[in-house]
Amino acid sequence: MKQDFPLFTHNPDLVYLDYANTAPKPQSVISAVCEYYTHYSGNVHRANHDIGSRADHAYEMARMRIAEYLGAERNEIVFQKNTTEAINLVAQSFVAKLIEPGDKILLTGLEHHANLVSWQLLAARTGAELVFSQVDEDGCFDEQHWLKLLISGVRFAAFTAVSNVTGERFPIEQMLAAARGLGVPTLIDAAQLMPHERIDFDKLGADFLVFSGHKVYGPTGVGILIGRYELLNQMDPWIGGGDMIDTVHLSSSTFQEPPLRFEAGTPPIASVIGLGAAIDYLDGHLTETQHAHESCMMQGVLNALNQIEGTRFLGDPTSDARLASFVIEGVHSADLGAYLNEKNVAVRVGKMCAHPLLEQCGIDSAVRASIGLCTDQTDIDKFADALTKAVKRLR
Ligand SMILES: Cc1ncc(COP(=O)(O)O)c(C=O)c1O
Repeated sequence: MKQDFPLFTHNPDLVYLDYANTAPKPQSVISAVCEYYTHYSGNVHRANHDIGSRADHAYEMARMRIAEYLGAERNEIVFQKNTTEAINLVAQSFVAKLIEPGDKILLTGLEHHANLVSWQLLAARTGAELVFSQVDEDGCFDEQHWLKLLISGVRFAAFTAVSNVTGERFPIEQMLAAARGLGVPTLIDAAQLMPHERIDFDKLGADFLVFSGHKVYGPTGVGILIGRYELLNQMDPWIGGGDMIDTVHLSSSTFQEPPLRFEAGTPPIASVIGLGAAIDYLDGHLTETQHAHESCMMQGVLNALNQIEGTRFLGDPTSDARLASFVIEGVHSADLGAYLNEKNVAVRVGKMCAHPLLEQCGIDSAVRASIGLCTDQTDIDKFADALTKAVKRLR
């Protein structure tokens, strides 16, 4: 598969284990972006010439393709900048209207800052209270505690589908069923789920789901909010400007229907078209065979780490995970990351945009290895070798 990705042609010795951060791009995605810029780089929804019509068509076809892949309607797909922006849109335009001071918003103790700080800002604005399900002693999600909080009365629940720190996949199907049973609207942060698992939005039963294009082998600059249409239609715009309006007067305006109501100004046209191509690529490659291959590669990562004495994992990653965060006794994570980088092994080092979780684990900084479509046995062998050498050198 690496032959599809120019990153690996240009960096033949690279061992890329940072997919959870951002994924490499296949040639088909790069070509789709390039084709837009070289053949039909018009603006969308506002040009009365052929070039603009071609851009319009490609942009809206990408929306159709993404909707079809995700089991959603075309008008339920809203283009935003990334996962972060999509969460903020839901917070400011949907949840803000529901909240009375003192109402509770349920989160988990494992959220990425995107699904935490957005709610803190909303809480400061509305007087909402944020409540968090606890993380158990192994660093895992405590479903029972989450259910207890849900039952105790919350106005909204937002949770990640897969932790970007521990790699744990949450039982989102059961969580959504419980929330639906109580009439609590939900948002799923699927940033780490989408690169590895295909979902059907309609069957899943979430109210909102968000993810980033760049983590699913697409371009940076575009993220997706999928929302149930009747809810999107109740939402006021958050950002005002061109393209999202219906009529404009000096003192007031009326707005387009969703999704355009939430896409003010010139959108990231090339990135949206590239994301359409990325979804085509993902659709062709997220097979059962690929799933088994990724589990095997993940087991390889875990075996390599388990061979090192003094490895401590955050959470309890298994071969079902697609990432593992860890610390190694006697070796500083930053030194380990720097050594691995010298050996052409790219991993993530730091707090993984989850400061409270690391603090709870009593860890200052960790290393994260994450795998994806192109990870192969050579990557795992080189990672294991570099890791052993690093520990010998640094301890
Ligand atoms: C679980 C999760 N949520 C949200 C984000 C934020 O994504 P973005 O920076 O693309 O908005 C990330 C990024 O790593 C993530 O892993």
